[in-house]
Amino acid sequence: MNDYATAPWVDPAFHWQPLPVNDLPERVLLDFATKCNLRCPMCPVWGSPDNDAIDSVKGVMNLEASRRVLDEIMAAQPLVQPNMYGEPLLAPNLRERLADMKARGIAVAMNTNGLTLDDSLARFMVEMKVDSISFSLDAVTRETLEKIRGVDKLEKIEAAVFRMLTARGDCPLPRISVSFTLQDANRHEEQAFIDRWVGLVDCVRVNLLFENGTFPDMKVPEKRLACPTLYKTLPVHNDGTVTICCLDGFKQTNVGNVFQDGVRAVWHGEAFAKVRYYHETGQWDKVPFCKNCNGWAQYEYEEEVRDGLFIRRSPEFTYYNRIDRLENWKGRLLGGHTEPPRDIAPNSLAAE
Ligand SMILES: C[S@@+](CC[C@H](N)C(=O)[O-])C[C@H]1O[C@@H](n2cnc3c(N)ncnc32)[C@H](O)[C@@H]1O
Ligand code: SF4
Ligand code: SF4
Repeated sequence: MNDYATAPWVDPAFHWQPLPVNDLPERVLLDFATKCNLRCPMCPVWGSPDNDAIDSVKGVMNLEASRRVLDEIMAAQPLVQPNMYGEPLLAPNLRERLADMKARGIAVAMNTNGLTLDDSLARFMVEMKVDSISFSLDAVTRETLEKIRGVDKLEKIEAAVFRMLTARGDCPLPRISVSFTLQDANRHEEQAFIDRWVGLVDCVRVNLLFENGTFPDMKVPEKRLACPTLYKTLPVHNDGTVTICCLDGFKQTNVGNVFQDGVRAVWHGEAFAKVRYYHETGQWDKVPFCKNCNGWAQYEYEEEVRDGLFIRRSPEFTYYNRIDRLENWKGRLLGGHTEPPRDIAPNSLAAE
């Protein structure tokens, strides 16, 4: 780890004791293709009315450059998410890209809007043992889907989830989830969404909306801490640019480029270190992107076992996990959290 203790930007008055940073990140986001077939109003990139800004971040990640990144990070066996502000199924050479990651023993977890998943791709995901696929649905009615995702193709997206479930059958992988980003337009459907999907998929995820630089519905502890995401996740945009956080779709917090300098040089570089220093010394105003964000509180989890489900809840996320499909939730897929108990008997719980 580089030593920045005597850097000119360090104020001795803070008696800074740097927090440790792993040699390599445990989670890497690779935006293979910043392109999308939807324009969800909530989306920090595609929901923007500024088409020039969108044009400035659109693009496809060079295959060879992404391989060099994978070669460097594979030593840490991180979890890789092959999307950030793109629809991953639209990435050119998707199959090669997935094979590249799996050949290096890397766990792959993706979010998708599901619109272009056909039988052949679903089978490929199973053959490749892609670790996790989460379908972003956000609704149980066409009207609500249209408000949130700008399309009324609820049956088509639901069919994609069932297609994936059928292709996977009883195989352990992929772990299959559906997600619901809670907001005013769908709040009334939250329980119906959980009831619709619990028991069908391995996991139902409900998460809060990020809006205007923060999560307005999130309840946070009083004392603000350095944001854990700065120590866990490396978000890589399609041109190799790294930002401090995946919420920064328009690259306002550029801290380097992994295609030019490599992963370690950026992860331990001065620009990233400076942001961590400001967080660790409580100088939030020095990081405008984070200043009003409460996303730092998303990592503390509580657990509950109820109605045949293992429920894990943080201020931002709730995961309703089917107890009889917990076996495939392990390793890097846990996002640094503890393994769920392996000894819960599904039948006894369902009867509770
Ligand atoms: C940005 S999308 C990219 C992957 C894919 N296109 C999709 O929609 O699943 C990744 C996830 O972020 C969620 N999302 C989009 N806008 C959001 C926001 N403003 N706050 C919280 N989550 C959001 C989406 O619902 C999706 O589950
Ligand atoms: S499908 Fe995903 S990437 Fe596309 S606009 Fe919606 S949230 Fe954004
Ligand atoms: S405080 Fe918010 S914007 Fe800053 S790194 Fe954490 S989650 Fe991202």
